[in-house]
Amino acid sequence: MSRLASVSCGENAMPLVDRLGGDLPRTPVTVELDDIQATVLRYRPEPYYGTHVMLHVEDAQAGREFVQRLTPYVDSAADWWEAGDAWTSIAISSTGLVALGLPEDSLRSFPEAFRVGMAARADKLRDYGPNDPTNWERPFGTGEIHIAVSIFSDTEDKWRRAMETAGQQYQGFSGVTVMLMQDFGAQPGDLNPLGYKDSIGQPAIEGCGVDSLPGQGPPIKAGEFILGYPGEAGVPLPMPRPDVLGRNGTFVGLRNYQARVGTFNRFLREHAPTEQERELLAAKLVGRWRSGAPLTLAPTQDDPALGADARRNNDFTYAADPHGRQVPLGSHMRRMNPRDTKMALLADVNVHRIIRRSTTYGAPYDPDATSEQDDEVARGTYFIFLSAKAMATMEFLQQEWINNGNFMDLGDERDPNVGLQEDGATFTIPQHPVRRRIHGIQTFNVLRGGEYFFMPSLSALRWIGELRQSSGQADERAEPS
Ligand code: HEM
Repeated sequence: MSRLASVSCGENAMPLVDRLGGDLPRTPVTVELDDIQATVLRYRPEPYYGTHVMLHVEDAQAGREFVQRLTPYVDSAADWWEAGDAWTSIAISSTGLVALGLPEDSLRSFPEAFRVGMAARADKLRDYGPNDPTNWERPFGTGEIHIAVSIFSDTEDKWRRAMETAGQQYQGFSGVTVMLMQDFGAQPGDLNPLGYKDSIGQPAIEGCGVDSLPGQGPPIKAGEFILGYPGEAGVPLPMPRPDVLGRNGTFVGLRNYQARVGTFNRFLREHAPTEQERELLAAKLVGRWRSGAPLTLAPTQDDPALGADARRNNDFTYAADPHGRQVPLGSHMRRMNPRDTKMALLADVNVHRIIRRSTTYGAPYDPDATSEQDDEVARGTYFIFLSAKAMATMEFLQQEWINNGNFMDLGDERDPNVGLQEDGATFTIPQHPVRRRIHGIQTFNVLRGGEYFFMPSLSALRWIGELRQSSGQADERAEPS
């Protein structure tokens, strides 16, 4: 397998399975791992280092050459559980596909929400007020971001070497411009900008070669996450045309959230007088202690060893907590994956699961930051999720589970982590004998930009690179390799 950085696993490299605490049992592979990009299946390492590079294609031919040049360095998901080196992924926006000169018939075959882009779907996504695209940081939402190249690594050294190699591919290249570079990674203790460990709960995917981790539940049909395979309904989802372009690809949603750390810390201090109570309140908002320990397994006291143990920290259901006295029904984690919670509005949880590959950037979480200026410090999350129907899932989650409370009989209450809170908004903590209703919950993460991308298979990247120019339009193509 080609690698962007020609670094070997080395003695320090830690295979993913070791990090999870031993070998995961192997299961039969029924998807084409060699053709799927590694990022689709490979977990973000811990600690992690990397960079997202957003590029603009000025010239279609140059853009295709760039894709062609980079493709040999994009890692496949073969042996995805044994990540050792830095790995690279490529994703292309809808305007990017146009800029690369894809045939009209292909462009038309993409879903409407992808073609118009995330900003144009603000209404469906409930991206109003501070989250409205008119308030986004440029170039997000302008259509100018065409290609996203991301490098993930578990050491700083490998990351820097991978960046160097990527830089060499780009050097002296005209017709493709870098619009934005965002380094991300390792906060002390791998915490996100509000001080939580995250990216724990991930779906298990059928046919990917390793067994589920305890608590992941039965594997979900591959077609929910990778195009070309049957989904939970028993049939594959519609794919972009031609087959070589669609198959083994997936869609990516990226949402750049600025963390309002000052507001968050003030909220904790106003509603919880002691350090211990503040930590419990922070845990109630998400459903896990900031260490990652789930409240279902550690209801009254944090248990950092549990939080760090990938074999135990997700191994729970909500069966013994139907009223949310341990994990509030409205907490972020329970909204985003209600598991076996009995919901007021029925929904099939398995068809709304997403793969998360979010990355944290900027200054680390500061528990003493309480001023309004602290909200403006560049610090946040590129929330990144993958699914074969990412656009529809995102719209469902934003409308029904994030910005609405009806599915859990919570009225107007919104997700305490990423919901857009209005004046006087509340958060309910069920407890016995009387529930606690907190008034004045604020918006803790503000949306500063977002884009949808298509993450093509390796064959599709080669196909794009080999499209031939014909009277200024790449509507003739070489046979798929
Ligand atoms: C600033 C943005 C966000 C932050 C800081 C954040 C943080 C967290 C944290 C701390 C957890 C608990 C640990 C874990 O299971 O990984 C979590 C879980 C989760 N979040 Fe988020 N989140 C953000 C945005 C979102 C958004 C926008 C969505 C969906 C549209 C989402 C979906 C999920 C899901 C599916 C889980 C796992 C639930 C489970 O499987 O039990 N998150 N998030």
